[in-house]
Amino acid sequence: MNYQAIFDRLWVDYRLQNPAVEKVYNLFESEGEQVINDHIAFRTFQDARVGVDVLATPFLKAGYQQKNEYFFAEKKLRAVHFEHESDELAPRVFISELLWKEFSPEFQAIIEKTLDKIKLDEINADELIYAGVIWGSISHEVYEHLRKESEYAAWLYAFGFRANHFTISVNHLKKYTEVESVNTLLKEHGFRINDSGGEIKGSKSIYLEQSSIKSGFVPVNFIEGTIETPGCYYEFAKRYPTENGKLYGGFVADSANKVFESTDLK
Ligand code: NI
Repeated sequence: MNYQAIFDRLWVDYRLQNPAVEKVYNLFESEGEQVINDHIAFRTFQDARVGVDVLATPFLKAGYQQKNEYFFAEKKLRAVHFEHESDELAPRVFISELLWKEFSPEFQAIIEKTLDKIKLDEINADELIYAGVIWGSISHEVYEHLRKESEYAAWLYAFGFRANHFTISVNHLKKYTEVESVNTLLKEHGFRINDSGGEIKGSKSIYLEQSSIKSGFVPVNFIEGTIETPGCYYEFAKRYPTENGKLYGGFVADSANKVFESTDLK
């Protein structure tokens, strides 16, 4: 399958289900900018049924290759990024997985129960990235319980498999050529920038600058009722050339560590 078809399908859901995303996209279009994706990201649990390797299936079939691996000690995450083998314009794919066996026994019990609700014969590795929640009905009490140890886990439990964020490539913008001017435009239009670790993560000296809006609240159907919950967010990235003259292609763990907090409730 052509990779573009995968991104188009993910984009439709991401845009429809997150009004803030739609507004940001329209804002850049109305400014005359062409929106090009730097990367998109997924979240999952480290597990043989749904781990990084399974989620990556459609991308590997579409010509992507595994690149660098990243670890996030504080958040207990492992991540891998993928790049297309030949098309330099193809967005990167960043997939992280929660090392849930490193959490408390209570937390582990919840995740184990959640994963065991997945019907194995319904998992189609090619379709998992679009599948949303595949562990049946979800409880806000469980969401809150998970959140005490991991905001990442709570988000994943409530939203499942989907693009967690798309990322506008600042390198491809004409007027807003700095992450700082992107942030200023967003703030002027009422968006909240994730300021954990500063509004801009990274710097030119490490070849990557990133920022993101805080996730907008979207209605989620829990067994207790419909509750407004932080959904997906939009990210912005500017890459700089390294010594070899080519734009840096990887990610920076310290920066990503803070970008993850864009879905935090508080
Ligand atoms: Ni990202």
